Amino acid sequence: MDTIHIQGGRPLKGAIKIGGAKNAALPLMATSLLTAETLRLSNLPHLADISTMSHLLSEMGTTVSMEGNAPNGGHMGRVLALTSSDGVETTAPYDLVRKMRASVLVLGPLVARFGHARVSLPGGCAIGTRPVDLHLKALEAMGAEIELSEGYIEARAPNGLVGAHILFSNVTVGGTENILMAATLAKGETIIANAAREPEVSDLANCLVAMGAKIEGIGTDTLKVTGVKSLHGAEYAVVGDRIEMGSYAIAAAITDGDLLLEGARPDLMESVIDVLKKAGVEIIEEEKGLRVRGSGRLKGFDVMTEPFPGFPTDMQAQMMVLAAVAGGASMITESIFENRFMHVPELVRMGANINVHGSSAIVRGVDHLSGAQVMATDLRASVSLVLAGLVARGETVINRVYHLDRGYERLEEKLSACGAVIERVKG
Ligand code: UD1
Repeated sequence: MDTIHIQGGRPLKGAIKIGGAKNAALPLMATSLLTAETLRLSNLPHLADISTMSHLLSEMGTTVSMEGNAPNGGHMGRVLALTSSDGVETTAPYDLVRKMRASVLVLGPLVARFGHARVSLPGGCAIGTRPVDLHLKALEAMGAEIELSEGYIEARAPNGLVGAHILFSNVTVGGTENILMAATLAKGETIIANAAREPEVSDLANCLVAMGAKIEGIGTDTLKVTGVKSLHGAEYAVVGDRIEMGSYAIAAAITDGDLLLEGARPDLMESVIDVLKKAGVEIIEEEKGLRVRGSGRLKGFDVMTEPFPGFPTDMQAQMMVLAAVAGGASMITESIFENRFMHVPELVRMGANINVHGSSAIVRGVDHLSGAQVMATDLRASVSLVLAGLVARGETVINRVYHLDRGYERLEEKLSACGAVIERVKG
C-alpha cells in the first residue's frame, strides 16, 4: 500500500489552483440519469470517487466518455459526457455502492424517470452509521413504494412520482439532492423545507435548471420544484471545491506560509474565513482568488460544525491541526456526525494535546508537533494528518493514503510546487 512521507517545517509559498468540488460533481453526474440526452460536465476533479461514480453509471448502461485533451493526463480542461438512454439498468449493485456512499444519489433520478430503482443500501462508514431513512421517507411521501430486502432499497412508482410537501427533520445534503432530482420529473409541485443550503446543492439546482427543470428558492432552505415532463441535455461547469480551498488555507496558516488559492470563492467559505481570521490568519481577497498568510502568531478559537452557512464538518479535522499549534486553548464541537474524531489519537501521537468530551474536543496548543507514523481513517482525517506533517518537526509517514485519493487531486504535486517536502512511496 502507498504511503506519504513528509519532512515538516517548510513554509508553503506560491499558488495553488482550486479544482472542482467532488461533492458537487457526484450528484451532477447522477443527474444524467434524468434525461436521455447528453449531459456535459466540465471542471471535474480527477479523483477516485469520480471514477467510482463513472464506473457505477457505465455499469448501469450510461455511456460515459471524456472529451478533449488534458496536458497532464488529468481531467482539467476536459469534459465528461454522460448519456443515459431509455435502456439504462435501474439496479445499482452492492459491489459499487459499498465503495462510495454517494452512490445512493442514483436512487431519486432512477425512480423519477423509470418508476423503479434497486439500489444497494449503503453500509455504515468510518465517521458514523449514516442512515438514508430521510431520503426514503421523502420518496414515500412522493408516492414511491419502498421495500428493503436482501440489503437493497427497492423503490417503485409505476405511475410516476407526485409532488409533495417534504419537511426534513434534519438537514441532509444527500437527502435534499436526491429529492430535488426526483421532484424535477414528478407530477405537480414539490416543496422541500429545511433543505440543505450547501453550495453543492445550489450547484445541482442550477444544473437542473439548465436541463429544463423549474426550481425556485435556490440557495435558501425552501426549494419549490414544479415537475416537468422531461429534461434535456446541458453543459455545466462544476463549482470550485471549498473544502480543498479551506484545507490549503490551513496549510499556509500553520507553516507561516503565503499561498494564493486561485479560483477560491470567499462567498462559499465565510464561516471558515471567520474562524481563520479569529485565529490570527491573514486573508486577502485578490483578483485571482484568496491570499492566505500565516502571521506566526496563531491563537485558539471555539467552533462548532453546523449545516451551511455554518462551519463545515468536512473542515473540522483540518481546523483541529491549526488549534493544535495555536497559542491557548480551543474548543471544537462536532454536531453533524457522531464519530468524527478519529484523527484525534493520531494527532496525539504527533504530540498534540487534545481531550475529547462527548462531541467536543478541547485542544491546548503545543509548541510543536513531532513527525510520526500515522494511519489515515477517512478522507478529511487523512488530510489533517498531511497538514500536521507539514508543520511537524521531522518525518511523518502516513499509511492508508487511498482515502486521500478520494478527495484531493494531485495533493503531493500541488504542495511540493509550493515548497513542501512530500512524496508518495509506492508500496
Ligand atoms: C454530505 C457530504 C459529506 C458531508 C456531509 C455533511 C457528499 C457526497 N458528502 O454527506 O462530505 O460531510 O454532507 O455536510 O456530498 N442523516 C440521517 N438520515 C438520513 C440522512 C442523513 O440521519 O436519511 C444524518 C447523517 O447521519 C448525519 C446528518 O444527517 O448525521 C447529515 O448527513 P448528510 O447531510 O445527509 O450527509 P451526506 O449527504 O451523506
